[in-house]
Amino acid sequence: DRPQPLKGRRVLVTSGPTHEPIDPVRVLANRSSGRQGHALAAAAAAAGAEVTLVSGPVSIPDPAGVRVVKVESAREMQAAVDAALPADLAIFAAAVADWRVEADSAQKIKKGAGGPPTLTLVENPDILAGVARRAEGRPPLVVGFAAETENVIEHARSKLARKGCDLIVANDVSPDSGVMGGDRNTVALVSAEEVERWDAMSKQAVAEALVARFAALLGGTSA
Ligand code: C5P
Repeated sequence: DRPQPLKGRRVLVTSGPTHEPIDPVRVLANRSSGRQGHALAAAAAAAGAEVTLVSGPVSIPDPAGVRVVKVESAREMQAAVDAALPADLAIFAAAVADWRVEADSAQKIKKGAGGPPTLTLVENPDILAGVARRAEGRPPLVVGFAAETENVIEHARSKLARKGCDLIVANDVSPDSGVMGGDRNTVALVSAEEVERWDAMSKQAVAEALVARFAALLGGTSA
């Protein structure tokens, strides 16, 4: 039998990209595959947790033993996250769009004499920061991800402080890293106290090692 270090724990995971509507047929999107977040949800379930996975549009299968809530936009993701709380552990692995189109069109935007449309963007809510900064019902362990193309650790440190989470899993997603959409990941764990660099591993191995670490950090406490 596998060890069940998260038995009795509630775990929330966000994963995948968000799609921000421009009109009924067009979206703003990003290249997140959902692989790392889905692997984390699967690993947490295998470790005995009751897992809710809030996922943006992905083309990979639902992980086994997990409750999956499918969303499209950042605002839908935020609502699904709120509905899934409370949790002992919240892991924000989704690549949430920073911006959405201010007023998406109810009808398909047509080519025409007016020339190309101008899209006005507005900032999306920061879902992770909203949960990490809750006065009440904050999960005891809140973990964020930092996908950067340069100065990875430096950006992760400032993100940790800015968002108020307990831990940032930082990774390099520059195009030559092969991380975005690929099967392997090289991560560093950044907390207020220290930086721990891990060797390159499969996303599944990263997920299992992270879940073991989160379980150890949660220790004997329960929400
Ligand atoms: O600021 P940045 O997007 O780099 O932060 C990444 C972290 O914040 C990830 O954990 C991501 O899931 C989370 N995030 C979020 N809501 C946003 C933007 C990012 O939850 N609107």
